[in-house]
Amino acid sequence: MDREQITLDYEVCMNTELFDRLTVENALEQVGELLSDLHKSEVVLSVKDFTDSADTNWLFLLDKDAGQIMSVMQFSLARTPPKSHVYINNVVTHSDYRRNGLGTVLLNESFRAMVRLWGTGLGVELTNSPKKDNAGFYEALGFTSRAHDSDNPTVVWVMDI
Ligand SMILES: CC(C)(COP(=O)(O)OP(=O)(O)OC[C@H]1O[C@@H](n2cnc3c(N)ncnc32)[C@H](O)[C@@H]1OP(=O)(O)O)[C@@H](O)C(=O)NCCC(=O)NCCS
Repeated sequence: MDREQITLDYEVCMNTELFDRLTVENALEQVGELLSDLHKSEVVLSVKDFTDSADTNWLFLLDKDAGQIMSVMQFSLARTPPKSHVYINNVVTHSDYRRNGLGTVLLNESFRAMVRLWGTGLGVELTNSPKKDNAGFYEALGFTSRAHDSDNPTVVWVMDI
């Protein structure tokens, strides 16, 4: 299945490129709403959240005409010899846009960005609560789940790129 051929029109932008597309206030509000939906509690962001760490990146899929952020994620590098790891966080597609292939496009764009920034031979990881019931999304992308013990139900999804 070629998930790049989705019918929705999207633009990919990274980090503060978002502020070239949307006003700062609108951008912070939209990202805050998406993360609040994910965490089920209010998330209020400031510009510093986008500029503070050189190795942490935000990636967005934007519906440029509607001025709407459709999907967001973060990824950050940990230099962990012998192999560096990239940790993915805060993956969300806006509830109005789910199951259109956008999350898949977003993750695939992030893999390309990771290789561009840090080269190949990276281990990619993310942790997830099984309560979120979205294992199918990570399986469809090619992640495998690392075994967990009964004291800690968190699932660790891993992939090498
Ligand atoms: C998980 C999430 C990011 C997926 O985004 P999306 O844009 O809807 O994903 P896609 O449309 O690219 O999904 C691709 C495939 O992944 C699988 N998939 C997607 N969401 C799934 C879910 N909730 N449960 C099981 N499988 C899922 C399906 O195989 C899907 O293909 P299909 O639509 O042809 O069946 C989105 O549902 C979301 O934001 N959920 C709430 C927040 C969340 O759980 N984030 C992840 C935190 S770790």
